[in-house]
Amino acid sequence: MSLQGKRIVVGISGGIAAFKAVELVRELMRRGAEVQVAMTNAATRFVGPITFAGLTGKPPVTDLWAEDYAGEVHVELGEWADAIVVAPATMNLMARAASGLADDAVLATLACARGDIFFAPAMHHRMWAHEATQANVARLIERGAVMLGPVTGTLANGEIGLGRMMEPEDIADELETQFARGDDLAGRHVLITAGPTHEDLDPVRFLGNRSTGKMGYAIASQALRRGASVTLVSGPVNLPDPRGADVVCVRAAREMHEAVMQRFEEADVVIMAAAVADYRPEQRAPRKIKKGNGLQLELVRNPDILADVGAKRGHRPAVLVGFALETENLEQAARHKLERKGADLIVANAASDGLAGDTNRATLVEASSATSLPEMSKHALANQILDRVSALLQRQPRRTATKAGPDAPN
Ligand SMILES: Cc1cc2nc3c(=O)[nH]c(=O)nc-3n(C[C@H](O)[C@H](O)[C@H](O)COP(=O)(O)O)c2cc1C
Repeated sequence: MSLQGKRIVVGISGGIAAFKAVELVRELMRRGAEVQVAMTNAATRFVGPITFAGLTGKPPVTDLWAEDYAGEVHVELGEWADAIVVAPATMNLMARAASGLADDAVLATLACARGDIFFAPAMHHRMWAHEATQANVARLIERGAVMLGPVTGTLANGEIGLGRMMEPEDIADELETQFARGDDLAGRHVLITAGPTHEDLDPVRFLGNRSTGKMGYAIASQALRRGASVTLVSGPVNLPDPRGADVVCVRAAREMHEAVMQRFEEADVVIMAAAVADYRPEQRAPRKIKKGNGLQLELVRNPDILADVGAKRGHRPAVLVGFALETENLEQAARHKLERKGADLIVANAASDGLAGDTNRATLVEASSATSLPEMSKHALANQILDRVSALLQRQPRRTATKAGPDAPN
């Protein structure tokens, strides 16, 4: 029972999946947690508060103005809880939370949270894909919240799509894992690259790729949550800076190379999640290239950032992680890359999966193991990668910033 003694507020908002919150509350209690339920008005129309009162032995908080609360119940609950999990989290609730509203029991408690905040979204797939929802989710993550799901499956109206709430048992597992992780990267400095690079052809055109930067930004957010200090070297993306990260903005592969080479020796961990262009135009035309009958481009190789860090690393970084996007022989290609580039871990994904989406399916390849993971959110994958990084760091002594300390390898 690894949630033994944990104090958890389960916030319930008004979606069909509210009935699953009954199972979630039971599961958390079965694992030893003390649970207090808070509900939005809409949630009380889906499941009766009396159900949760019966399960937990405590009436849910449904009304900030109820006379039986002696003081500010949301402040007390926010202080009491080690974690708050909103399940289901509706489109509406996340919009209100992202805007900083505090006009009901769930939102006011979230606003006073001392512990970690988790959302388990549940909604129709078009509500999830809606630009407003995606922007709100990004804002909540930027402020440190963790999204548990949604997952792909059968939705309330029978359609299949991305928007189904994660199963209660899986939510409980995630909470356990998050509690176990704690701040395992405290005192560690993690350097992450993210996004595409843009290789200029002329003043208005460039060669680029479809990378959105979401994977690298997810790793940065999760590393920060786990206590690391983070430097994020980012190509051109359309994402908010993860709060607390030192963000270095670059455009072309050569700038990214320079930014990384200047900083990698200060890092305990380097994770190269950027999709760096292998080639750039030999020349950048000083003026816009005029339309003609055809155009031939001469391309030259860009520097290989991962290989250069791998070749030049002394005792820092202690852990070097690369990404491999392959169309065939995924694991074999990743293992080859691991050896060639002097990395400790390669995150391999199929070129058909993941570059621009919110989910990813990856295989984690290390010298003596390969772990194929199921499709999951980029934040969940970020934590899986950081779990391996954390394990690899455990094998290394914690080092000071000096280059040639007593523990420097021979
Ligand atoms: C039958 C029914 C089912 C609904 N299911 C969902 C849902 O699964 N997800 C969602 O985001 N909204 C759903 N809604 C809409 C929300 O109930 C509505 O946006 C409400 O204002 C949410 O309030 P709350 O976020 O304060 O709980 C549903 C509405 C109805 C009438």
